[in-house]
Parts: sequence; structure tokens; C-alpha cells
Amino acid sequence: MKWQVAVLPGDGIGPEVIDAAVVVLQATAKRFGHEADLRFHDVGWAAYEGHGVPLPNATLEGCKGADAVLLGAVGDPRGDALDPELRPEAALLALRQEMGCFANLRPVRLVPALADASPLRRERVEGTDLVIVRELAGGVYYAGPRGRDADGQGAVDTMRYSRGEIVRIAKVAFETARGRRKQVLSVDKANVLHSSRLWREVVDGVAEAYPDVTCTHMLVDRAAMELVLGPSRLDVMLTSNLFGDILSDEAAAVVGSIGLLASASIGGGGGIFEPVHGSAPDIAGTGTANPLATILSVALLLRHVYGHEAEATAIEAAVERVLGAGLRTPDLARGRERTVGTEAVARAVAEAVALTEADAGAETTVPRTSHA
Ligand code: NAD
Ligand code: IPM
Ligand code: MN
Repeated sequence: MKWQVAVLPGDGIGPEVIDAAVVVLQATAKRFGHEADLRFHDVGWAAYEGHGVPLPNATLEGCKGADAVLLGAVGDPRGDALDPELRPEAALLALRQEMGCFANLRPVRLVPALADASPLRRERVEGTDLVIVRELAGGVYYAGPRGRDADGQGAVDTMRYSRGEIVRIAKVAFETARGRRKQVLSVDKANVLHSSRLWREVVDGVAEAYPDVTCTHMLVDRAAMELVLGPSRLDVMLTSNLFGDILSDEAAAVVGSIGLLASASIGGGGGIFEPVHGSAPDIAGTGTANPLATILSVALLLRHVYGHEAEATAIEAAVERVLGAGLRTPDLARGRERTVGTEAVARAVAEAVALTEADAGAETTVPRTSHA
């Protein structure tokens, strides 16, 4: 089959992790007899520099015309001085909305080999396997009124949700839970926010159609605590746009690094597949970024868009094998562990994907390393 994917490297480490993911995508296509038709487009600061806008029409059209979008990251310190609608981040928000991506799935699983990379004690983090289902097209990110007062002395953002917006994201969470341990934890701030009280009421209504799934509610401050006290007790966390953004970086740290967390933004057509992390300007250009979040986003793409379960599983298994063999980018290294760079990880994962099942037991070579 032909995989027609729009690839948006973006800014900072975006192009580095995308290069790595493409190496793995190509290796997967080769092993399973597919063809990867990749079309690259500018986005974020990179697009602003070349075209004067962070999301050029050609990019948007390219995304809409593709089966799916694979995105690196947007964001550049130079963007902070721009008008809000010209900032690199504005491109991502517009792209999600234009593509109808209202659901953001962020799987958070502890790879057993990384138990010691977690800041939590091993016994606390072991067994962690949850999914954050984040509402992605509404709430305080998009609702109006928003903006700076005319006199510049105040500013407003609006946290607004409609019943319809809550129903559609809640259904995604309950359907997701059905394929897992059948527990939905809905996270809100219903003790203070009107929009959260509506959220809770609507989620309870949707829950009635899923009697096989347990639905509980938790306030977001408590949920942030439970995520570090007992992450392995959580299955599906359903939450709003802003709370989901915050909780997912916390969850990433719990399982070892933000460089590991992949995501699928779906709802409309194909979807946008993107790491949870940003452009990491502090390490951009050093060749040390962890590419696994983007590589695992490719696996999510193949599973969600094409139903290519074997291909997705091959990538996930290859990642586990490479981590099991001890390969670590600096974000994952503890103590005096040796580290490798972005490209070495990509090559190792691609090689592991290329192995036939019969070879899979053989040892993965750990390349000679450098300290970053
Ligand atoms: P960030 O995720 O870019 O970085 C946070 C920290 O994690 C940094 O220390 C960084 O070096 C590290 N890190 C992130 N990804 C890593 C990886 N793959 N491997 C190793 N280390 C990694 O968040 P930030 O610093 O708050 O934001 C930087 C820029 O990125 C901002 O402009 C922000 O708006 C943007 N951003 C974009 C996205 C996106 O495109 N989806 C997401 C988050 C932030
Ligand atoms: C994310 C990012 C984005 C968000 C920013 C860059 C707009 O933090 O994908 O988690 O807040 O959704
Ligand atoms: Mn974020």
C-alpha cells in the first residue's frame, strides 16, 4: 500500500526527530512491502521566515490532501515578539482546528527497561500504562472573547465548552477504555469552574451508554498528585484542552522523559501525529534529542490511519528492544550511563524493525558512544 503522509518538521529539534522518524518509517515500509510517499511542508517559525506566515496555504492544503500528517514541533524564542496570530504555535492550533482534530490521545506506558529513568521509585511507577484523552479543539485555547484590552491594561481568555464538544470527546474516552481496562477518570475543576460542572454532568450522561466502563471524576489538582503517587492505578484520563496539556508533560516525566511521549490528534480525517514535546531550543542542533516520541508517533499513525497493526507493533517492539539493549539519549541516562545521539537511536530502531521475527531474539548492537 502507498502511505501518503504530509511531513511537517517545524522548528528546533523538530527536523532532527523527524529525520529519525522517517528513517524508521522507511524501514517499516520496506519490511512490510509498502511505499512511503512523503511530502514535506514548512510550518511554524520555519514557515514564517520563508513565507511571512506560520501556516502557509500550501502547507494546509498539503495536509488536507494527505492520508495523515506527521509533525515535529513548532516554537522559536524569536516568535515571542510576534503578534499572537503569527507565532509558530498559532500554526499548530489552526492546523488542529482546520483538520477537525478534536481528540488528542497520549499513551503513557512505562517501558520496563526504563524503570530507573523515572524520578519515581521503581515500585511506584512499575506497571504504568494509561492514556490521556485530551480535548483538543475547544476550551480556553479557542473560545472567545479573548485578547488584550484596548488600553493594554487587562487581557482575557475564555474557558467555554458546549455540550456537543464534551459529548464527542467523552465518547472517544469511553471507546478507548473499552479496548483497555474499562476505567475512565474524568478530570475537571468542578468545585470552581462553571465549564467543569457542565463537563461533569455531560460525561455522566455519556457514561450511561457505557455500563461496562467505570466512570469516576477527580479534581485536577488532586489528579496531578495521583499521577505521581499512583500512576499505575490509572487507565484512561479524560480531560479538557488546558488540563490535558499540563498533565501530559507531568505524565511524560513519570515514565522517564518527555522525549518518549507520542500522540495522535484525531477526529476529522486522517489526523496529526506528533510528539508531546516541543522544539526544545536548549538542545536544538546538538544531535542529542530523543527521537522515540516521534518514532512512536509513526506507529500510532500506521495503526490509526491504516489499521496496520503489525507494522505499528513492529515499531513499538523495536523501540523496546533498543531500550532493552541499553541505548539512551541523554534525557534517559541516569548516573554514569553511556549516551548516544538521535541518529544512532534511529538507526538502531530501523535495524530492529528490519529483523524478521526469527532474528528478533538476536542481540541488538549497541554502537560506540559519546558523551553529549
Ligand atoms: P519543550 O518540550 O520543547 O522542552 C522542555 C524540556 O524538555 C527542555 O529541557 C528540552 O530540552 C527537553 N526535551 C523536549 N523534547 C526532548 C526530546 N525529544 N529529547 C530530549 N529532551 C527533550 O518545552 P518548552 O521548553 O516549554 O517549549 C519550547 C518551545 O516549544 C516553545 O516555543 C513552545 O511553545 C514549543 N512547544 C511546541 C510543542 C509542539 O510543537 N507540539 C509542544 C510544546 C512546546
Ligand atoms: C502541546 C503543545 C501545544 C499545546 C502548544 C505548542 C500550542 O504544548 O501539543 O502539548 O498547548 O497544545
Ligand atoms: Mn504541551
